[in-house]
Amino acid sequence: MKNIAIFASGAGSNAQKIIDHFRNSDKGRVAVILCNKPGAGVLDIAQREGIPAVLIEKDKFLHSDTYIALLQQYQTNLVVLAGFLWKIPGNLVKAFPGRIINIHPALLPKFGGKGMYGHFVHEAVIAAGETESGITIHYVNEKYDDGETILQERCIITKDDTPETVAHKVQALEHQWFPVIVERLLSK
Ligand code: GRF
Repeated sequence: MKNIAIFASGAGSNAQKIIDHFRNSDKGRVAVILCNKPGAGVLDIAQREGIPAVLIEKDKFLHSDTYIALLQQYQTNLVVLAGFLWKIPGNLVKAFPGRIINIHPALLPKFGGKGMYGHFVHEAVIAAGETESGITIHYVNEKYDDGETILQERCIITKDDTPETVAHKVQALEHQWFPVIVERLLSK
């Protein structure tokens, strides 16, 4: 049984899909959820699912090994960023080499980097007149949205699409593929 640690800042719909995917699995389980936003929806999910949740303090996150030690206490095999808005500090990246992944709601390297999250991404994609968007699941390094790509999946954008309809199409791809990739990486 492998242990997954999820970092999230928001609603947690990706976290929920991963929890659901591993509900009766003997391959993996979501052992702990770490969140930097008091009141975030993902904390309600953790409580409802009976999964330990940890509220991250920025200073400790950036300048100590507090959360590395916590991840090790949970025997974490894979760190999954599911809508986590802070950059991962170098000590954490080094502590879990090749074991931290992120999902980005666009086709990196375009529409990535600081400030590119949520509706900002889809607005930029529409404004750029793109004919497709999608998701990028990638390894995490010390820069935003910059690590080696694991998977990209695409959706078509038509002239009738809005940032909201693109967000809906992209979220469907996230929910379909993120749990699959997590499971594939656990067995590596
Ligand atoms: C998703 O769009 C994901 O691609 C991005 O943050 C969002 C998280 O959404 N990294 P949710 O909190 O999982 O619903």
